[in-house]
Amino acid sequence: MPFQIHCDFRHTTHVVHGANSITRLPQFFSDKAKVLIVTDKGLVQAGIAEKIVAVLNDNNIPHALYDGALPNPPAACVHAGQRLYAKAKCNALLALGGGSPMDVAKMIGVVANNGGRINEYLGSGNVKNDIPPLVCIPTTYGTGSEVTPFAVLTNPKTQNKDPVISSKITPQAGILDPELSVGLPAGLGASTGMDALTHAIESYTNLLAGPITDGLALQAIQLIGENLRLAVANDYELAATENMLVASMLAGMAFTQTRLGNVHAMSHPVGAQFGVHHGLANAILLPYVMEFNLNARLDKFANVANALGANTDGLDEREAAQLAVDSVCELNQDLAIPTKLGEVGVKKSGIRALAKATMQSGNVTVNPRKTSQLDIETIFKKAI
Ligand SMILES: [Fe+2]
Repeated sequence: MPFQIHCDFRHTTHVVHGANSITRLPQFFSDKAKVLIVTDKGLVQAGIAEKIVAVLNDNNIPHALYDGALPNPPAACVHAGQRLYAKAKCNALLALGGGSPMDVAKMIGVVANNGGRINEYLGSGNVKNDIPPLVCIPTTYGTGSEVTPFAVLTNPKTQNKDPVISSKITPQAGILDPELSVGLPAGLGASTGMDALTHAIESYTNLLAGPITDGLALQAIQLIGENLRLAVANDYELAATENMLVASMLAGMAFTQTRLGNVHAMSHPVGAQFGVHHGLANAILLPYVMEFNLNARLDKFANVANALGANTDGLDEREAAQLAVDSVCELNQDLAIPTKLGEVGVKKSGIRALAKATMQSGNVTVNPRKTSQLDIETIFKKAI
C-alpha cells in the first residue's frame, strides 16, 4: 500500500436491476420534477428513447429531450444541453445510453448548478454544488458511469481527454434494464464488455486494491467470464445481458476507488491518436499488459484465471497466473476481437508518441508493476 494509509469506500447510488426495471423510474423524481432526458440520436432512431418517454408520460412527469450527446463529447455538446435544460426550466436529469450521454448529463448538471463553462471544473474536487437529481440508464455494459464520480470531456482540437472528478456528480440512481440493451450490436457488446473486464482486472490487481474493491472486481470478472459470450451471441439473452450490466456497474464501483492501470493509460492515446474505440483498444492491449504485470501479482492473476473459469488444479502459482492471460486471449478470440493493434490502424511509427502520452497518465503510477517509458514502448511493439 504505498499510496494511502486508509482505505476509503463510498457508494451513494441507488441501483435497481432487472427486466423492465425502467418502470421504477418515477420513484426517483419528486412531484415537482421536470426532467431533461440526455441521450444520442442513435437511441432515438432505435426507438429506445421512446420507451423512456412513454414511462414518463404514463406517470405525468414533464420532460424535454436532448439527443445531442456525441461520442467523446466536447464542451459545445454540454453547453447546448445546458441551454435546453435552462430554456425548458428543467430541475432534474435522466441519462440514457453509453458512457457519453451519462457523462454529458453529469456535466450539464455541473454547469446548471454552478454556472460558468464546463472547462472551469476539469480536474479533481472543483465542483462546489451538487448536480440536480440524475438517474442513469446505461444501454451498454462497459463504462459503469452510472455509479462513478467521473465525466470525461474531449478537446476536439487537441483530442485530449480531461476528466471532471467529484463526488458531487455521482448519479442519484442507476437503472439496469436488460430489455434496453439485449439487442446491442455484437461488436459494440464485445468491445464494451471487454472494457468492463479491463476495469475489473486493472482494479483488482493494481496498487490501490483493497479487500472491499477486490470483492467487487472479482465478482465482476466472474460474471463477465460466465456471461459476455452469451450476451453477445444472441438478441434474446436477457439473463446474460443483465449480468453484464451488473458486472459493468460492479467494476465501476471498484475502479472509482482504485483507479486503473497501464491498459487504460495506453488505450487513451491510442483512441485519441488513431481513433480506435476505447473498449476495442483495451481488449487488444489487455493480455499484453497482463503478461507484463504477471510477476508483480502472481497470486491475484491466479485468482483472475479461476474467476474466468480456467481449471488451475495441480498448477503452481505461475502456471495458474499464466492461465489468466490465456483465458483473456480465448475470450477475445471468441468475440472476434483482433489480436494486434496494427489490425485496427495503429502504426508502429507512432510508438514513441504513444508511449510518451501514456506516461502522462496517473494510471501508470498505480499499475502493479513499476513501468518506464521503455517498458511501454516494448509492450506497444508486441501489441502492434
Ligand atoms: Fe474503460
